Amino acid sequence: MPNFPDGFDLVTDEVAITDRVLRVTHPRVAEDLIDEAEYEEDERLPYWADLWPSGIVLARHLAGLDLTGVRIIEMGAGLGLPSVVAALGGAYVLATDWYGVALEFATANAAQNDAPALATRLVDWAAPPADLLDGPRFDLVIGADVAYESRHGAQLAPLILRLVRDGGEVLIADPRRPAVSSLVTNMREAGWRHTREEVEYEGRPDEQGRVVYLHRFTDPPWRNPSLGTAEDIG
Ligand SMILES: C[S@@+](CC[C@H](N)C(=O)[O-])C[C@H]1O[C@@H](n2cnc3c(N)ncnc32)[C@H](O)[C@@H]1O
Repeated sequence: MPNFPDGFDLVTDEVAITDRVLRVTHPRVAEDLIDEAEYEEDERLPYWADLWPSGIVLARHLAGLDLTGVRIIEMGAGLGLPSVVAALGGAYVLATDWYGVALEFATANAAQNDAPALATRLVDWAAPPADLLDGPRFDLVIGADVAYESRHGAQLAPLILRLVRDGGEVLIADPRRPAVSSLVTNMREAGWRHTREEVEYEGRPDEQGRVVYLHRFTDPPWRNPSLGTAEDIG
């Protein structure tokens, strides 16, 4: 049974992912959760409480891949939809966020969709846990709408490069936010090949409209044709 945290006014969205409809439960109004003290400390805002278009686009993309036995880490997982889809697809998934309560929602959202349990971990991109950095690396690093402030590219690129294995892959869904350019630049300067696919999204338009970019970074010695192709802009 899903066990959502107490004390929230909840709402459940139904999201079509290929041949099934998944349920994503979240607080009704994210803005009601703003905590001035948290914001003062590190400009933390409760964006985890919304399901963002990029999360849906990334989840749909993952649903089309063979992820059996693939080791995945999701950065800024929020409500966890891509992680849930990856777990349903047979991946081992570690969902991470800097809000513990987001990880409780991701766990409960996995349960209410009969997905295998997610592993979860509190991870702040600015101060990631040392044992995670030194631990086993991941085949695939994913993130949806995780580069929206100027600081994010500089935080995420070195972290992702520590987490992904040689020959691995990184998938970032992004609603064309300007801040993503520094993530792309840092990944390319580290020698990673970058391709970008434009995905039309029919739901709630984001600030930049109804197109989400799916950025794919691959380590050049390695190619996995089953993970698809996109226009090569790298
Ligand atoms: C715009 S939301 C996207 C949430 C989810 N990926 C989706 O697409 O629905 C950004 C997410 O990144 C997380 N985040 C922001 N800054 C972070 C940081 N420094 N460390 C870890 N997570 C962070 C937020 O808590 C939030 O869950």
